[in-house]
Amino acid sequence: MDGLDALKARFIAAVSAASDEAALEEVRLAALGKKGEISALMAGLGKMSPDERKAAGAQLNVLKDEIDAALRAKKAALGDAALNERLQAEWLDVTLPGRPRRLGTIHPVSQVMEELTAIFADMGFAVAEGPQVESDWYNFDALNIPPEHPARQEHDTFFMARAEGDNRPPHVLRTHTSPVQIRAMAEQGAPIRVIAPGRVYRMDMDQTHTPMFHQVEGLAIDRDISMANLKWTLEEFCRAFFEVPSVELRFRASHFPFTEPSAEVDIRCSWEGGQLKIGEGDKWMEILGSGMVHPKVLSAAGVDPTQWQGFAFGMGIDRIAMLKYGIPDLRAFFESDLRWLRHYGFAALDMPDLAGGLSR
Ligand code: PHE
Repeated sequence: MDGLDALKARFIAAVSAASDEAALEEVRLAALGKKGEISALMAGLGKMSPDERKAAGAQLNVLKDEIDAALRAKKAALGDAALNERLQAEWLDVTLPGRPRRLGTIHPVSQVMEELTAIFADMGFAVAEGPQVESDWYNFDALNIPPEHPARQEHDTFFMARAEGDNRPPHVLRTHTSPVQIRAMAEQGAPIRVIAPGRVYRMDMDQTHTPMFHQVEGLAIDRDISMANLKWTLEEFCRAFFEVPSVELRFRASHFPFTEPSAEVDIRCSWEGGQLKIGEGDKWMEILGSGMVHPKVLSAAGVDPTQWQGFAFGMGIDRIAMLKYGIPDLRAFFESDLRWLRHYGFAALDMPDLAGGLSR
């Protein structure tokens, strides 16, 4: 048969030129497919004389096998190349550090509660709790604020409704965390060392006040606890919380019905260039109220004031969160704006602890 060498050369060239499996399949169809050139030549064998057919058939079979072998070899080569390419593209350095995905964000108030709990736990304070809907007695009377006391007016209290005809004093949304002092002492007696972080409510709303906000109460009662212990505890707390080498606190004489003597505490800071710095400068920022627990308060909680004494303080959590993390407007804390949360929030798995650093 004539022309078979040229045919073979053409198909072998086409096989080696095929750059992917699809192109190779086209070559296979053109040569060996039902309508392929070699198949057509095979079909022509029937019209030949027996001798011619024998010779041409043998030639065509050899050609067919050769092209088939070339196709298979090329197909294997293309497969290897594709695998190599994939291996190159999907190469991965398993020794690289992971890229963490954010699992939501922790609100600055929650973060700060965790931070201050870690600090006070380190100083031997346990966490105590009380209800947000509180009885008039726990919120006021037991804290030496009798019904006629003017301090009641200052608290801008939210009152709960009573059933008609029920003339007992209404429950209130607690106006401070101080009622937890009474509950904790009544439950545990003395000596006692607790903090009570939580929500409190007052009817007030402007740039620095929201009707719901957060306080942390501190209470330490023992045989001989003094104002000096209070001062050290608060300084130690502020140093650890603001993560600065030293802080300066100023105790200003004040008045609370449930402490005697009482002091409001300011922290030294500077506001240079709109940037707040704790521990330096010539500004003072009020951060808490405190004092020695009043004997009447100890008595109301069933603790003998001739045997026990100690200090209490109440600190605004939102306030110290704003100070530490440079957050200018309190109201944004409670607007649930996801953009704000993503900006000021904290990674969920970074739990504050003293050994690892509070606010990594
Ligand atoms: N309960 C006071 C307030 O809300 C703070 C305070 C707590 C003051 C404990 C003294 C002792 O303002």
